[in-house]
Amino acid sequence: MGITSRQRFPRLLITLCLVTFGIPLSSQEDKTKCHQACHPTVPGKINAHIIAHTHDDVGWLKTVDQYYYGSKKEHSQLGVQYILDSVTSELAKNKDRRFVYVETSFFWRWWEEQNEYVRVSVKELVDQGRLEFLLGGWCMSDEASPHYSALIDQMTLGLKYLNDTFGECGQPKVAWQIDPFGHSAEVALEFADMGFDGVFFGRIDHEDIALRKKNKTMEMVWRPDDTLGPEGDFFTGVMYNIYDPPAGFCFDTYCDDEPIMDNPKLHGVNVNTRVSEFIEIVKKYAQAYKTNNVIITMGGDFNYVVASSWFKNIDKLIKYVNAKPNSEVNVLYSTPACYLEALNKENITWPSKMDDDFFPYGSDEHSYWTGYYTSRPTFKYFVYQVNVALQMTKQLKTALPNDTLAEEQFLLQRAMGIAQHHDAVSGTERQHVTDDYSLYLYEGVQAAMKVINAAYR
Ligand SMILES: *[C@@H]1O[C@H](CO)[C@@H](O)[C@H](O)[C@H]1NC(C)=O
Ligand SMILES: *[C@@H]1O[C@H](CO)[C@@H](O)[C@H](O)[C@H]1NC(C)=O
Ligand SMILES: *[C@@H]1O[C@H](CO)[C@@H](O)[C@H](O)[C@H]1NC(C)=O
Ligand SMILES: [Zn+2]
Repeated sequence: MGITSRQRFPRLLITLCLVTFGIPLSSQEDKTKCHQACHPTVPGKINAHIIAHTHDDVGWLKTVDQYYYGSKKEHSQLGVQYILDSVTSELAKNKDRRFVYVETSFFWRWWEEQNEYVRVSVKELVDQGRLEFLLGGWCMSDEASPHYSALIDQMTLGLKYLNDTFGECGQPKVAWQIDPFGHSAEVALEFADMGFDGVFFGRIDHEDIALRKKNKTMEMVWRPDDTLGPEGDFFTGVMYNIYDPPAGFCFDTYCDDEPIMDNPKLHGVNVNTRVSEFIEIVKKYAQAYKTNNVIITMGGDFNYVVASSWFKNIDKLIKYVNAKPNSEVNVLYSTPACYLEALNKENITWPSKMDDDFFPYGSDEHSYWTGYYTSRPTFKYFVYQVNVALQMTKQLKTALPNDTLAEEQFLLQRAMGIAQHHDAVSGTERQHVTDDYSLYLYEGVQAAMKVINAAYR
């Protein structure tokens, strides 16, 4: 990519100068190290780690591309292209802000359209740990219906794209399965083998979470495969409020909650009340966790189309909570990697969970999410058939020179990538969205036929 070579040139010059003047190289390297940008926590206080995030379904009520562009406004007004535009420019305005992004298939769509100026500035955000990728798969996959090989492939596709585009700083450290409807030990094992430091969940059974809140086992080490022993232990955290903001603190443009009004020259100042409410919520959340650190998710489905409405209000919350004398709470912009770094300093022995799954998921006593294991059976069967075509294509492609028909294979990989989404192969999407996944899969197979033919020729 053009930017890498452009950026490398001045850095090389600086390095050469440092060598000439005998200054140790390590000080230069430290500055460019990613994931070193964690805000400090305050010992003795409850540290509320704000995770500013958006959950962007790779298809659900609208198709993946309708969500990307924000078309079909009668269904919803949201567009992922505007979210990424808005978030990246708001991050650039204030170096304290942090944001996490998950779905690589959307990011790929957006990055393709960006000019050199935007790319360089986004690369800087990533290098400085201000924009952190989580999970990094082509989508946030379902955990019950996909074949394990398709899951590995969709993760490989996304992670390789991030590494090719951003290098080391683009590599996610933490898996983020905040919306899938239950969790499988098989997937946890794959994540552990992929080298993630841990995984965070939004949805576990309502009785399970109620107990865990009471007995402070929201965070644990999961041993998804008993035969591995402690070597296979994998940090697993359950979030307090799925992935939503605390009640009363949704600052997205479509939410009804009050902004923080703090100018004493204007009418309607509410900052003191809002700050007290927030502190009470943080204290309540913290009771469910073992350490003095707690994650506060600030975001939701397709949030941050107008990122300033979130960031401005979070900026103010942080400012006023931390300025409050004798406050028991410290609020900071954080990321899951920074949160884990804070936990690691605490020297805690985590409770363990042996090899069983987090299935089935009951969101309340009359709502068990089990129908999706078998719903849309013909679509599920089609996805499995196309997976066979993908495995075959990957093997045969090795007989061809590297770049030959790479786009054709990429088309099939992308189609399979989005099909593993938790509203795709699961069957929880609208009919026209299933049709769109099927069309992509069909186009992918047609393209892959070219690879297969070329390999046999
Ligand atoms: C990331 O890319 C670099 C350079 O191409 C490569 O050396 C490295 O092995 C890649 N890392 C992973 C985890 O794939
Ligand atoms: C806490 O609750 C969990 C979830 O139901 C349960 O599995 C675990 O055994 C409990 N732990 C303790 C120490 O009571
Ligand atoms: C961490 O905990 C272990 C066991 O509870 C203890 O032996 C050790 O001294 C602790 N280390 C620190 C740095 O607190
Ligand atoms: Zn979702």
